[in-house]
Amino acid sequence: MSRQISTSYLRRSFNTRLRRNRRADSIREGLAETHLTVANLVYPLFICAGKNQKVEIKSMPGIYRFSLDLAIKEIEHCIQLGLKSFALFPAIEESLKDKNASEALNEKGFAIQSIREIKNRFQEVVLYTDIALDPFSADGHDGLVQDGLILNDETVEILAKMAVLQAAAGADYVCPSDMMDGRIKAIRMALDEAGYTNTGIMAYSAKYASSFYGPFRDALDSAPKFGDKKTYQMDYRNSREALREIQLDIREGADIVMVKPALSYLDIIQKARVSFATPIAAYNVSGEYAMIKFAAQAKAIDETKAMLEVLYSIRRAGADLIFTYFARQYAEFCLKSR
Ligand code: PBG
Repeated sequence: MSRQISTSYLRRSFNTRLRRNRRADSIREGLAETHLTVANLVYPLFICAGKNQKVEIKSMPGIYRFSLDLAIKEIEHCIQLGLKSFALFPAIEESLKDKNASEALNEKGFAIQSIREIKNRFQEVVLYTDIALDPFSADGHDGLVQDGLILNDETVEILAKMAVLQAAAGADYVCPSDMMDGRIKAIRMALDEAGYTNTGIMAYSAKYASSFYGPFRDALDSAPKFGDKKTYQMDYRNSREALREIQLDIREGADIVMVKPALSYLDIIQKARVSFATPIAAYNVSGEYAMIKFAAQAKAIDETKAMLEVLYSIRRAGADLIFTYFARQYAEFCLKSR
């Protein structure tokens, strides 16, 4: 007599229980889909002329303008934390700003000299240097201004010269943040012609006209003196246009492309991730940083948890690199929680 095999399991059903994979911290750690390390972060530093200057930016608690001597101390400290990538933004004295942004091309000026000094002192750091006219321009715009209009090709010529000076001073990546048309190609050609074939270009490709840049403009006193930046920075209603900007910059020779800001633009980061193989950076901008800082000060949210959630969300969307004012704080957090 053959034994009857139960087939009752065919008639029974079971519940899919996704919570099983969440039931313990060690399980969650093993199954986490997204990872973040200090190496993914780039720390923006505001530098100013003079000595022994460290001035907090009111709209960015915990972020300072440093004179070069103290910026070097800050970098030393960050290196000890394992944070080695920095984006430099010079704050230029008002008296040195003019219509032509001529200080941008002053080889002896502290903006260029700071690149040289930092790179001489710390060979292991990766320096991302900004290319745009706004910190140097009396008009506070990223391009030259004539009769209230922003000139494109005339600006690009200056940007290409800036790139060569920054490369000569030791920049690892020059980073055009100006949104003029055709600047990536012009910069790549100028760099190659001058022999800087190893200097990379990190292009601010999809940079939106955003209200979240306010605190940055406080830090550099670089707010536009008239109008806004909508004739060159992107309209936040658009995403297909972002893909065109990114595609164009890749064709023109960008080594890394950026989406900026990050948080209201996670969809753009995601689309760029699935559309292109080029490394992607996202800029977690000043206003996004300020929102968390002030909300935490008001005890509305937990600062560390919010920082982590935001940084991971940007990685989850698909960014390789994150430019963030939280970089040092995150590095300190990692050290403490080891
Ligand atoms: C200027 C520049 C801006 C930022 C980076 N480069 C401001 C702007 O375009 O007005 C913003 C960064 C931030 O808000 O953290 N070319």
